[in-house]
Order: sequence, then structure tokens, then C-alpha cells
Amino acid sequence: MIAISAPRRARPFSGWVLACAALIAAPAALGAPSTPVAHKGAIASAYPLASQAGQEILAAGGNAFDAAVAVSAALAVVEPSSSGLGGGGFYLLHRQADAFETMVDAREKAPAAASRDMYLDKAGNAIDNASIAGSLASAIPGEPAAFEYLARKYGKLSLKQDLQPAIRLARDGFPLYARLQGGIRYKRQVLQRSPDAAKAFLTADGSVPEVGAVIKQPDLASTLEAIAAQGAQGFYGGRVAADLVAGVRADGGIWTLEDLAHYQVVERKPLVGEYHGARIVSASPPSSGGIAVLDALNILSGFDLQKFDSATRKHLVIESMRRAYRDRAIYLGDPDFVKMPLAQLASKDYAAGQRSSIRTDKAMPSNLLPGIESEPVGMQTTHFSVLDSAGNRVAATISVNLFFGTGYMAPKTGVLLNNTMDDFSTKPGRPNEFGLVGATANAIAPNKRSLSSMSPTFVETPKGVMIVGSPGGSFIISMVLVGTLNYLDGMNAADIVKYPHYHHQYLPDEVDYESGALTDAEIKELTAMGHTLKVSGRQWGNMQVITWDFASGKVEAASDPRGEGVGLVY
Ligand code: DON
Repeated sequence: MIAISAPRRARPFSGWVLACAALIAAPAALGAPSTPVAHKGAIASAYPLASQAGQEILAAGGNAFDAAVAVSAALAVVEPSSSGLGGGGFYLLHRQADAFETMVDAREKAPAAASRDMYLDKAGNAIDNASIAGSLASAIPGEPAAFEYLARKYGKLSLKQDLQPAIRLARDGFPLYARLQGGIRYKRQVLQRSPDAAKAFLTADGSVPEVGAVIKQPDLASTLEAIAAQGAQGFYGGRVAADLVAGVRADGGIWTLEDLAHYQVVERKPLVGEYHGARIVSASPPSSGGIAVLDALNILSGFDLQKFDSATRKHLVIESMRRAYRDRAIYLGDPDFVKMPLAQLASKDYAAGQRSSIRTDKAMPSNLLPGIESEPVGMQTTHFSVLDSAGNRVAATISVNLFFGTGYMAPKTGVLLNNTMDDFSTKPGRPNEFGLVGATANAIAPNKRSLSSMSPTFVETPKGVMIVGSPGGSFIISMVLVGTLNYLDGMNAADIVKYPHYHHQYLPDEVDYESGALTDAEIKELTAMGHTLKVSGRQWGNMQVITWDFASGKVEAASDPRGEGVGLVY
């Protein structure tokens, strides 16, 4: 079952889940062990230098929240294709001392001059690429505001200390690695059109640098230094803000200094649910991730999955995805703008209704429900997980949306701009880059946040906890769902992150799967049930997982081997 709970300040884990106003008793040992067992801290992120930046801050006496700032800022430097100061995301926090949980919503916001039909021509037709290319596609970034907020409100060290590793990496440079080189190659022509981006990521003659070439970003170092010295004001005001607005407007965008000055992160209640004795804490709107993962788990909770053969188990998981993604498309948007039937989507009765339309032997065509379309996606966006030795946790998924966002770097700032405006429903029924369509709930409006699939999540049982999340656009939700089921089945962190993916997002009505995710027998059985199966040409996702076993104190950190990340336990 799912419940929407306030940020908690309760006795450790005694609060458990408030579901439809009913208090569910928690197993006594859930969450923090009553006799704490010494355990180590851990960080899993998409690139070793970012994990190390977090480690440095933990070693200097910082807590998980300081480390989250250090890792995010380092990722902005060493994985600029996936997240950065020009983007935003969600930070799910758990403070061990008082079991307080909250989500810092640092999602980008539409500029005040944005309007519902801004990507349509006079005839009402969508203008090709308008919501992904050029600065009109860029929303007002949230990540720099999160840095100050996290450090000031939850950290132990100063923002200045937390940002030092990233400043060093930007100023002194880091060696180019194969995956980033691949991203640069993929976006070369776009990067070349932005002189500052070309200077940072291409050679003087405009070609792609060799692996090992040192990538230095002095302008980004200066912007990080401005934030270190002045807090968020160093980005949203003064010289940097003026350069950002000038750069965006020269590139066809509509930002103003007021847009930047008015940006604020919002603390929101995480979504909390229960699945077979496990407590699931996940991102709330404007992320659709938490509600979709919990909705799918609610549906699955009525089945004894262990009783079924593997093909039927996967069939049931796919059917739960189909229904959860449908609800995402129809109901969800920015909670500051739209009323959402979260209590309904969270209720057991609603899930029972959804479950009743599932047959164990037959796929249900999505066109019998209302619809969506998709393409496999890579490793834009990034997730990292942190656990410190006190038990504080962070699950953070942050993004500039597509690879390198728009690929435009605002001159003199070192900041690559996001194209997160594409996460809005730019026209009813028109799929975005991830094939997701939306209804009016996710229509563009001034100062609104677009709906996201990013799903940073904690899964807690009486025995331990998993901190999990991944990039992957619309695929994030299905990966977090399957990762959760795998953890609850006893899988270890390394196996969870490498598990082959399968996915259904309601429309298109097909199951995408990585080669190896389904056995020949499963393919045969699922096809016979009526599923359309499509093997993906490439792998997707880049999951970062930490698990902590309460009884032994054992901590594992694992990074998806599809990427180049590392999970470190200290
Ligand atoms: O917020 C969202 O749902 C998207 N902007 C996330 C993009 C993403 O994960 C791209 N990764 N492959």
C-alpha cells in the first residue's frame, strides 16, 4: 500500500507508514537497529572521481549530505553529459539521528515567459526539435540552489569545503574516458556550434579528443568558486547570472534575471509505501517515479510472485508497469500547479481494481486502457547513492535531460544548459524524447516544473536498507521497480545493478528488453500470452546501489557495469 506522508521527524522507524489514515505497525527492528552495529560509509556513483570527491568530504568530517553536494558538483565536472549546474534533480534524504526524511526538489522550472504552446507553430503543429535544441528548450536550473540548501540545512561542513574537490577537478582537469568520449562524439556537431562548449570538449580543430586527454574547464571552476563564496547567489545573481541570461537570450532563449533570482528548491514529502513488509520511500511529484513504483508494487502485492514460473512472474511485473505508466501519463504534473489524485493512486482498493484486470496467462493490450511511445535510452542523467557511517542516506538523481542538455554552454560560465522543457507535454498526445505523452496536468506553464521519471528510492526491511536509483528516462521507473523486487528476493548489490532490464511503459504496447533479459522459454511463453517483445539494440541505465545489512553492519556499494562508475565502501 502507499501513503503520502509528511517529512518525518519520528522515533526511528516507529512512524512507519500512514496509509489512508491507518497506522500500520512496524516490525520493531525495521530501519535503524536498536543496538547499532558499526558500519562503514559508502558511495556509488557513475564515475570514480565523483565517488572519490564524496569520500574526501566524508573523510574530512562531512556527513552524507555534504558528500551529496561534493558528488553532484564533481559529476557536473566529470560527467557533464548527464548532469550539471545547468540542470536539476531530486535529492531524497534520510537523517539517521531522528529518522527525518525529506525530498529536496531541485527540478528545473519553466521561465516566466514560457507558455503552453511555445513549441507549436501558428497552425498548432509541433516545431521540430524546438523543445530539445537551442536555449528555448532550457528551463531554469535547480542544482546550484540545492548545493547551498543541502550544505547549509543538513550538512556539517561549509558549502565552500564541499565544493573544493569539484573546483579542483574543473581547474586542473581530468583524463577523458571512453564513455564521455562516446557522448562527445555523438553530440560533436551540436557542441561545435557553441564556442565555449567546443573549447571545453573538442580539440582546436573541432575533433573529438583522445581518451586520456586532459579536460580542463576553467570557466566552470570560476562559477563553482562563485557559488562556494556566495552560495546560490553566486549563480542566480551577479556576474554569473548576467552571463547566463545574456548567453541564453543570444541563443534564442527567454530567461530573465528575475527567473534566476526567483528560483528556489522546494522540500517535499517523500512518498512512502509498504510492500510485503518492506518500507519503500521514493520521490514525490513532480517526479512520477515514486508514485509509479509504488502503484506497481501495490498491484503486485496481491500476487504471490514466488508461486509462479519465471515467465509468468515477468508477465505480472510487465502488467503492473503497463498500468502504472498509464496513470503517470494521465494524472501527474507539478504539485504546485495541478491537483493529483494521489490518495486514489495510493489506495489498496484502486490497486485491487487494477489487479482485477490482469490475467496470469494473457497480456492485456494497452489500447484497452488509454496511451504512449518510446525509444531505448542511454546514460544521460545520473544517479548516486550515499550512506555515511552514522546511517544518514542520500539517493539523488540529477540531470540536464538529454546528452549534454542542449549542448550549448553559456559563454564565460562553463555551464551547459539543460533541455528539460522537453519533459513537459508540449502538445497533448505528442510524445517527448522518451516516448512519453502527457495530459494537461503536465502542460507548460510559467514557472512550472516538468514531470520527471527520476526515482531516487530507499527500500527498507527489518533486515536492512537499499539506496537505489538510475538514469534512463522513462525506463528509470521500471528499473527501480525490478531492482526493488530483486533486493527483496535477497539479491546482492552487484547483482542488482547488473541485472538485465525489461520494460513496458503502457504505450507503445511492447516489452523492450536487453539481450539476455528473457530466456528463450520466457520469450516463447510471453509471446504466447500476447506480449509484443522487442529486443533493444543497446543496453540502458546506470544504476547505483548501496545496501546495508543491519545485523552484521555489512555495507555493499555497486555501480552498473554497463557504465564506468564505482561503488566504494570506506
Ligand atoms: O526527468 C526525467 O524524467 C528526464 N529528464 C530524465 C532523463 C534521463 O534519464 C536521460 N537518461 N537516459
